Amino acid sequence: MPLPIEVHRAPALKPKPAASDVLGFGKYFADHMFRMDYTSEQGWHHARILPHAPLGLDPGAAVLHYAQSVFDGSKVFRGSDGKLRAFRLQDHCARLAASAERLCMAAVPPELAREAIEALVRHEADWVPHAPGTSLYVRPVVIASEAFLGVRPADKYIFFAILSPVGGYFSNGAEPVRIWVEQELTRAAPGGLGGAKAAANYAASLQASVAAKKRGYAQVLWLDALEHRYIEEVGTMNLFVRIGDEVITPPLDGTFLPGITRESVLTLLRDWRVRVSERKLSIDELREAHQKGELHEVFGTGTAAVISPVGGLGFRDGELLIGEGRVGELSRRLYNAVTGIQYGTLADSHGWMTVIG
Ligand code: COI
Repeated sequence: MPLPIEVHRAPALKPKPAASDVLGFGKYFADHMFRMDYTSEQGWHHARILPHAPLGLDPGAAVLHYAQSVFDGSKVFRGSDGKLRAFRLQDHCARLAASAERLCMAAVPPELAREAIEALVRHEADWVPHAPGTSLYVRPVVIASEAFLGVRPADKYIFFAILSPVGGYFSNGAEPVRIWVEQELTRAAPGGLGGAKAAANYAASLQASVAAKKRGYAQVLWLDALEHRYIEEVGTMNLFVRIGDEVITPPLDGTFLPGITRESVLTLLRDWRVRVSERKLSIDELREAHQKGELHEVFGTGTAAVISPVGGLGFRDGELLIGEGRVGELSRRLYNAVTGIQYGTLADSHGWMTVIG
């Protein structure tokens, strides 16, 4: 049964960014958002589309004290045929529910979240930007809204989704980024929250990322929390490394997010009969491969940047230049394949796209 959704229109609409404006990432917001509330008695109720505005949270709300907050992020594309298509929306909604469960929060049933997001995007269709390489970023969030200072799972939650027209995630476009290999700080440990898209994970990452930027690096390469030896992820993205003819990505061990772009890239590589391994990769193996001239490509994958090539890895004793600092052949091929499917110029043979209209 379709979700009954009240619509409260904004009294005036904001001007959309001009075609000449650089959209960047997350700077502009659409006129309307979606909101739905949860109480343990009523479950999820009162679905509405309303103007994008402050939420009106009690200062005692549990999210502000104990960080019960999870989110996800997906994109809607304006295809070359004018149709709007969401990329793997159902998978993003399933992941949002899994993240909420990890933090003992009320999960939004994925089908309900998907319906809500599709209704909001239909309502805000004019906010899906037209320029090549742009999209509408969808940010669904669940937070604990119960005003209570005891430490236990809250019994009231808010689910909201906001929309932001975006361009590239990095200000340097798709040029390779230089990454600092972080050997002291840890983002997530085994048994912790790393596998959930919890707001707290992003707070945990900031100190290392600020320090890396001071050193002139764009982001951080995270190593495992126990030995600081095994590669886990890069910035907010999953990591892939091409050594010889093998493409390696760390196995999902619960310390980092099961990326939807990661899974899509693995699927495409297997379609193309590329040798792929989900296995542990130590920083020593990576350095050795570099010495032998076998480290051909390193790249991150994520919703925001899609594929982000890494051109250099910084260590305390110097920097490894990767692929002469240029975009690798496989990174480019994957970027073209994923974005081609997203914009509807390539066949969607895995059924990843949903037309919204
Ligand atoms: C993504 O790559 O989509 C991310 O998770 C980054 C986002 C937190 C801005």
